[in-house]
Amino acid sequence: MFTFLLIVSLTTVRAELVCRLWRRSELPMFSKDGDITIGGIFAFHDNPIDVNHPFKSFLNFRELQNAQTMIFAIEEINNRTDILPGVTLGFKIYDSCRDVRLAIKSAMALVSGPDGRLINDDSCIKPLTVPAIIGQSSSSPLIGIATSLGPFNLPVISHGASCACLSNKKLFPTFFRTIPSDYYQSRVLVQLVKHFGWTWVGAIRSDNDYGNYGMSTFEEIAQQEGVCIEYSEAIYKSYPRERYLKVVDIIKKSTSKVIIAFVSFNDLEILLREMFLQNVTGFQWIGTDSWISAKNPSILEYYKIMSGAIGTTVSNAFIPGLKNFLLNVRPSDTPANTGMTEYWEFLFSCSTTKQNQTTRLPPCTGSENLSGLDNQYTDLSNIGKANNVYKATYAVAYSLHNLLACNTKDLNKTCSKNFKIEPLQLLQYLKTVNFTTDPAARVKTYDLINWQLSKDGMVEFVTFGAYYAFLSEGQQFVINYDSIVWTGADNKVPKSVCSDSCHPGTRKAAQKGRPICCYDCIPCAEGEISNTTDSPNCLMCYEEYKSNKQKDQCILKDIEFLSFEEKMGILMVTLSVLGASLTMSVALIFYMNRDTPIVKANNSELSFLLLFSLTLCFLCSLTFIGEPSYWSCMLRHTIFGITFVLCISCVLGKTIVVLMAFRATLPGNDIMKWFGPIQQRLSVCTFTLVQVLICLLWLLISPPFPNRNLKHFTEIIIIECALGSQTAFSAVLGYIGFLALLCFILAFLARKLPDNFNEAKYITFSMLIFCAVWVTFIPAYISSPGKYTVAVEIFAILASSFGLLFCIFIPKCYIIILKPEQNTKKHIMGKIPSK
Ligand SMILES: *[C@@H]1O[C@H](CO)[C@@H](O)[C@H](O)[C@H]1NC(C)=O
Ligand SMILES: *[C@@H]1O[C@H](CO)[C@@H](O)[C@H](O)[C@H]1NC(C)=O
Ligand SMILES: *[C@@H]1O[C@H](CO)[C@@H](O)[C@H](O)[C@H]1NC(C)=O
Ligand SMILES: *[C@@H]1O[C@H](CO)[C@@H](O)[C@H](O)[C@H]1NC(C)=O
Ligand SMILES: *[C@@H]1O[C@H](CO)[C@@H](O)[C@H](O)[C@H]1NC(C)=O
Ligand SMILES: *[C@@H]1O[C@H](CO)[C@@H](O)[C@H](O)[C@H]1NC(C)=O
Ligand SMILES: *[C@@H]1O[C@H](CO)[C@@H](O)[C@H](O)[C@H]1NC(C)=O
Repeated sequence: MFTFLLIVSLTTVRAELVCRLWRRSELPMFSKDGDITIGGIFAFHDNPIDVNHPFKSFLNFRELQNAQTMIFAIEEINNRTDILPGVTLGFKIYDSCRDVRLAIKSAMALVSGPDGRLINDDSCIKPLTVPAIIGQSSSSPLIGIATSLGPFNLPVISHGASCACLSNKKLFPTFFRTIPSDYYQSRVLVQLVKHFGWTWVGAIRSDNDYGNYGMSTFEEIAQQEGVCIEYSEAIYKSYPRERYLKVVDIIKKSTSKVIIAFVSFNDLEILLREMFLQNVTGFQWIGTDSWISAKNPSILEYYKIMSGAIGTTVSNAFIPGLKNFLLNVRPSDTPANTGMTEYWEFLFSCSTTKQNQTTRLPPCTGSENLSGLDNQYTDLSNIGKANNVYKATYAVAYSLHNLLACNTKDLNKTCSKNFKIEPLQLLQYLKTVNFTTDPAARVKTYDLINWQLSKDGMVEFVTFGAYYAFLSEGQQFVINYDSIVWTGADNKVPKSVCSDSCHPGTRKAAQKGRPICCYDCIPCAEGEISNTTDSPNCLMCYEEYKSNKQKDQCILKDIEFLSFEEKMGILMVTLSVLGASLTMSVALIFYMNRDTPIVKANNSELSFLLLFSLTLCFLCSLTFIGEPSYWSCMLRHTIFGITFVLCISCVLGKTIVVLMAFRATLPGNDIMKWFGPIQQRLSVCTFTLVQVLICLLWLLISPPFPNRNLKHFTEIIIIECALGSQTAFSAVLGYIGFLALLCFILAFLARKLPDNFNEAKYITFSMLIFCAVWVTFIPAYISSPGKYTVAVEIFAILASSFGLLFCIFIPKCYIIILKPEQNTKKHIMGKIPSK
């Protein structure tokens, strides 16, 4: 639009062969003649578009301060003999009204000079009246100025246009600034937000270059840093009230407690007014330099809404002599220098023009004094922007100094008097100018400001820290935490997160379709832990570890084996010892009655061997209890196998003896000599030897070993004896089973033989019990895990041993002890004929 305007104006005036401004330019607000005149553009009035908002202050006192600082700097330079000696600087300062069109118009007025001519009719080249322009605090009008002045190569040095978009040297080759780019400010704001732990914030921006660019940088960096933005709304002073009400509504409904406002104060003021009307309080405001240190007549009202607001400002500075200068400024009625008049009339409610009494105001007395006032012009507590103007003016002066080859070392101290300065030349010098005005403030990029109420009830901007952009990351903030006043009655750092952080023991789980700062905390699964807050995932514990109840630590799993201490272990030991002692008592009884017929008749040698092996059977169950070790694992199955085979083969021997004995009673049969004591011993030994061989092979090839079983239970480590060889174990059991079955069959055949004390039916019964116990043992063995397997095995051993003991020996003991009258040879043998 601007270039279009320019082209139109250029083509229309082409008709008169002189390039002239399309409208006659107005007079500057302030001006002074000099050898070289520096241009200035400041927004003395705020945008006239804004008149429909009744609560507008039209005069911008901050910009008056900036303009006066430029005048002060020029006067100071003129007074100094070391810069531009012999050259006086003048100035021409125009008003841009913070409006793009008016800013371009002012720039054109500066370029064209008093006659309004841009280009001479003959040469079409006209030396510019100003070599450089200082000023224009807001970004959008500055873009207009820089774009339209681009063809003239005229340097524009801004003290306030911080939009990062202006850093583009291709688009704005003649643009300079003494304020850091918003790239830094957006960074600082993100880091400030992160520093105080806010990850869920709302964002308000001005719908202009300043707000849009600043906020887009903020959002970009915020995303990198893990800060989420709940809403991002634009406001602008010319927006209708409904849009402001909508924004207030969004703020009221939001869950974040922190609002980042990348706004111009004019826009924010309208929003604040609406929020004030609706009493929307309790938000922590974070501000940018355009408003955070703006003193305003209604600031006490705004303070209710944004108490404790914090933000960044351009680093403050101290300029000696400036305060005195600013307070002694008086209005002048010379033409082209009337900038102060309107302020004066506004401030003191008097009229400076004496001759015309049409205004209602009384004439000024002349004793009005600025030093009694408190406004943004007289307030020198935050003069960062004014300092930027000061630096900009000095930058131009130093560049001119270099350009004009002023030699201060010379006694004559003169500069070249050739003041026809080509803008391109000055541009080169500006690019390399190097000077210091305030060494203390040189490295500081931003001051951190906090809104507080002073003792006398005034709002003051307290500097609580600073940001040094050029220090290494992590050290850039210097913050005095104690001096910060936060919003809210309890004066604590407000909390603004979408989801509370996840405790150890839980992990973050993103919520679908929501920002990453919003998540659920999901407890870790069994066997998994997280030991940090906000852990993104749970860690598996190592195999031998499990998670504790809180799921924040891995602890060793419980170890399980059948121990001597526990109830079941004690019961088993008791039963086994009881069985063994019972067996030995029976043996004792048999030994004491070894001469009685009943003991004699029952093959006393095999009986004692059987009792001995039964004792071993009872005792071998003890090897199954206690923590499995290398030795106990090897012993338990082999001893069990061998003693049981010994036991069964004794029973088998007895059965065979019974069978043989019956045959022997038949006439003409002398079979008994085939199975005498020697054969009996031999057969028992042979049967047992086979098992011993099996066991030896087992131990040699693949012995059982203690094993930590981690798989069966997730919570428990089972220490068990691994079999080593399943086949060998089956062979051992199978062999016992085979002998037991054989024994059972033979005993079954012999059960009806006519002998009152024939053992066959007892043996049949005992084998039945034996087989039943071991058949039920198999499924129980397979299904009961851990120590119960062992318990079941012990139980089977004890049960079958008790079965043998009771079935085979108790009936005889009964007779021996309680019915000794039956313990006679006659009684024993006498039954035979009766059958
Ligand atoms: C410049 O010098 C004049 C005359 O000595 C003095 O009145 C004025 O205050 C000086 N200005 C500055 C800014 O130093
Ligand atoms: C504004 O809100 C605050 C707290 O939310 C309350 O204490 C105060 O009374 C309200 N003021 C008005 C005028 O509604
Ligand atoms: C006073 O102001 C009125 C209107 O602003 C103007 O017409 C008149 O000429 C002025 N008088 C003098 C004496 O300047
Ligand atoms: C303004 O008042 C201050 C003291 O209040 C005084 O020092 C100063 O000289 C006065 N300035 C003018 C221009 O009257
Ligand atoms: C100093 O100025 C005088 C006259 O103004 C001149 O004669 C002399 O050459 C100058 N000196 C230098 C070193 O330029
Ligand atoms: C500016 O000047 C100072 C000393 O005068 C020097 O230390 C510094 O390196 C210079 N910087 C540049 C960029 O030339
Ligand atoms: C968390 O657990 C990991 C792995 O178990 C360990 O390396 C780390 O030191 C633990 N951290 C804390 C704070 O306990």
